[in-house]
Amino acid sequence: MKTVFVTGGAGFIGSALVRLLIAESDWTLVNIDKLTYAGNLESLGAVQDEPRHVFSRCDICEREALDRLFAEHRPAGVIHLAAESHVDRSIHGPAEFIQTNIVGTYTLLEATRAYWLGLPDSGKASFRFHHVSTDEVYGSLNETGLFLETTPYSPNSPYSASKASSDHLVRAWMHTYGLPSVVTNCSNNYGPYQFPEKLIPLMITNALAGKPLPIYGKGDNVRDWLYVDDHVRALKLVFERGVPGETYNIGGHNEKTNLEVVDALCTLLDRMRPRAGGRVYAELKITVADRPGHDRRYAIDAGKIGRELGWTPRESFETGLAKTVAWYLAHPEWVAHVVSGEYRHWVEKNYSHRAAQ
Ligand code: NAD
Ligand code: TYD
Repeated sequence: MKTVFVTGGAGFIGSALVRLLIAESDWTLVNIDKLTYAGNLESLGAVQDEPRHVFSRCDICEREALDRLFAEHRPAGVIHLAAESHVDRSIHGPAEFIQTNIVGTYTLLEATRAYWLGLPDSGKASFRFHHVSTDEVYGSLNETGLFLETTPYSPNSPYSASKASSDHLVRAWMHTYGLPSVVTNCSNNYGPYQFPEKLIPLMITNALAGKPLPIYGKGDNVRDWLYVDDHVRALKLVFERGVPGETYNIGGHNEKTNLEVVDALCTLLDRMRPRAGGRVYAELKITVADRPGHDRRYAIDAGKIGRELGWTPRESFETGLAKTVAWYLAHPEWVAHVVSGEYRHWVEKNYSHRAAQ
């Protein structure tokens, strides 16, 4: 029964990972999260009373707070997801991305290394630092080709540049200090509890509110969609069985243009929540100015994690998207609290007995 740190566990992917690990492991999880606008403890309502989930409100840039957590909980590893994660925000305000994604990862690595150095040899060898990153570090593809673990880094946005920097730091801490680390680079995730600033939840929540569906440029940029529960199963596998020093790409084999995604969502909504007056959701589509530096296409070759660790995605794009739309339709309260900002008070109302400031 070991203890594992999960950073960013109140975010979209982190909360899915926490829910999975509570259900499918006997580990105690220390969830280290600053609760930025993207952190939402309402997404962890299902594990709120679970004694194996210990929440700590903490900024990964704060070294002393991290040292205290390591000394108190003595983890067997760290799964690091905390980050600023939205490309558009990184274009409008890169500072937080540099701070959390680069300085924060550096601070976490140093706190981890100090703790790891004090472990007995067996604990040192079995310890894992698992860094969760993105395929956006590889840059942009044209019509053909796939990202491999060996593809050279070529990040284009402030977000992807900050994630690439953090990947390099993890690599250097492994190479120089011997900290046993693994890195995963995954494609675009979607699924329940995603903050409605990313394409899929934004389109669902706007459509349900009768608001325009803004499509950047021609809508022909391509993303490779990965259902979040498939992703977190892969994370558990890599954390447990990944080889230190290795990188694993994780992707859903679901390349779609943005227009294809929005049209599929509109069709599902027409069926599952028809609009009044015989209107269709596709009428809400509008084209807007393109994102500066918009990467053309991302697509992952997930062969290595399949061959070496036996992982394959369970959801097709069709089944995953239908599950996602059904989840948003069934959870209007979660959406309403995010839209109104009420979710930010959830911590005081529900977690005051646990949240260490
Ligand atoms: P998210 O934005 O939903 O959540 C990020 C979490 O990190 C939030 O809970 C936030 O409060 C926390 N956080 C931010 N700054 C912090 C800090 N300084 N200290 C402590 N906590 C902090 O992000 P997500 O979509 O769940 O992504 C998780 C990870 O996966 C990120 O590292 C991201 O780069 C990576 N990733 C995401 C996707 C995707 O499609 N969402 C794709 C590839 C990789
Ligand atoms: P996003 O979900 O922000 O993920 P990322 O930029 O990390 O891939 O965007 C996915 C794609 O959807 C991307 O090509 C930009 C596009 N997009 C829109 O066309 N309209 C929108 O309102 C948003 C948020 C994204």
